[in-house]
Amino acid sequence: MSQIIRKAACVGGGVIGGGWIARFLLNGIDVAVFDPHPEAKRIVGEVLDNARRAYGKMIQAPLGDEGVLTFHDDLATAVADADYIQESVPEQLALKHRVLAQIEAAARPDALIGSSTSGFKPSELQEGATHPGRIFVAHPFNPVYLVPLVEVVGSPANAPATLDRAEAIQRETGMMPLRVRKEIDAHIGDRLLEAVWRESLWLVNDDVATTQEIDDVIRFSFGLRWAQMGLFETYRIAGGEAGMKHFIEQFGPALAWPWTKLMDVPEMTDELATKIGDQSDAQSGMHTIRELERIRDDNLIGIYQALKANDWGAGRTLREMEDRFFERAKDGAAEATPDYAAPLELHQCRVPGDWLDYNGHMTEFRYLQVFGDATDAFLGHIGMDAAYRAPGRSVYTVESHIRHLSETKAGTKLSVRTTVLGHDAKRIRLHHEMVDDEGNVQATGEHMLVHVDTSAGKASPMQAPLTDRLSALSPGQRGLVAPDHAGRPIRDIGWPVAEVE
Ligand SMILES: NC(=O)c1ccc[n+]([C@@H]2O[C@H](COP(=O)([O-])OP(=O)(O)OC[C@H]3O[C@@H](n4cnc5c(N)ncnc54)[C@H](O)[C@@H]3O)[C@@H](O)[C@H]2O)c1
Repeated sequence: MSQIIRKAACVGGGVIGGGWIARFLLNGIDVAVFDPHPEAKRIVGEVLDNARRAYGKMIQAPLGDEGVLTFHDDLATAVADADYIQESVPEQLALKHRVLAQIEAAARPDALIGSSTSGFKPSELQEGATHPGRIFVAHPFNPVYLVPLVEVVGSPANAPATLDRAEAIQRETGMMPLRVRKEIDAHIGDRLLEAVWRESLWLVNDDVATTQEIDDVIRFSFGLRWAQMGLFETYRIAGGEAGMKHFIEQFGPALAWPWTKLMDVPEMTDELATKIGDQSDAQSGMHTIRELERIRDDNLIGIYQALKANDWGAGRTLREMEDRFFERAKDGAAEATPDYAAPLELHQCRVPGDWLDYNGHMTEFRYLQVFGDATDAFLGHIGMDAAYRAPGRSVYTVESHIRHLSETKAGTKLSVRTTVLGHDAKRIRLHHEMVDDEGNVQATGEHMLVHVDTSAGKASPMQAPLTDRLSALSPGQRGLVAPDHAGRPIRDIGWPVAEVE
């Protein structure tokens, strides 16, 4: 578990608070919640279900144990022993002042207090505070458990070290903190969004476009570009080989033309609100909000994965987040002191509902995922971490043989028993046995791994600490009896092999 933060408290568990709760919990951090809403547990539970589903699809690393979630009837007990407290109550300054005062009265003196406020400046939140220096803005984006950016805004009352500590905690949960240089109303993101929002309201108000048409213009054009290069880098390319300066000179004069009604705000009459509401119902009313959230999450995950493949933007944040999951799995595995004279139990997981296929059992490729995660846990155990991989050293799987022995159901707690069948300077041969919580073998996997120099693109000898740790565990593992199916190909049942024409 993280040393930077052990326990968080979330005050307010609505759309945003629920997202913070999910982000902390799924990153292994305990969370105490205070929200007086009578249905707070149900609402948070539904957000958590969606978040678990999203992490199961997004994170290609062992997910590890979640933190412990507790709900409290009073604010004071929820925040009492938290390292970090996130306030996400409705956007009313008087309410935020009242809640922040209650948090300050009950929190540990060294606890940090972030506010999700979309619009208030930190100096406004700090008015009347006993220790204003530990209150700051930590403004996230919905869904908080998936979107990485958090705008961290301080006032002159905040020591830089306080904000540094807040950012370290946020990074630990896979977020991308951005320190806003000056406090202004609505920070940076919402300033940009409000400009587009105002212009969109005008376009609907003036019957130029429907809500659907405006959304189509965004998602079929610049929305695609924004997710990967933002605004300035995109425009740099639009300037062609002559570059950004040329682009500004070419299009700059248009800024003075009356294209935009930006400084004007359409009056939000009942008529306009009804028009937008009706158009939005026609556009998306066939889906519930939870369905829309899942569609949104799946699309975000796809974008994330594409960006990760290019080690770019939010994809790099995801890769770093996965590295932390691997590190935590490795720490967990390293803390264990296994008996090397027995198979090693280094990886456990529970089968989530969306791992099932149309037969209602765990689908085929998830078996390989479980064995792959067990292999990673083993490699972590013998010392392969981000530092070892940094110079381009890694271990690739070059051959696998999986035997599917049972119908693995949703909710089953799986544990993998790993045996080292052998190793030499460059290769490790592993056998995994996947068992349920009653010890029934669900599947076995046998894998040949090769140590590689990734920049040279060829096999290379392992180095310390891998070599030392393998030598340490070998005597015990050598005493184990290899299963009789080890080394066997798919059983030959006497059929002729198809002839290639
Ligand atoms: N919705 C967004 O897209 C978004 C994005 C970023 C930031 N924010 C900011 O996050 C904050 C919360 O917004 P939201 O959209 O989650 O609102 P919300 O209405 O969904 O949730 C607010 C929650 O606070 C709870 N609450 C009310 N009084 C409370 C109290 N005294 N103590 C503890 N809990 C209390 C409510 O029961 C509710 O569950 C606001 O400051 C908002 O500006 C919102």
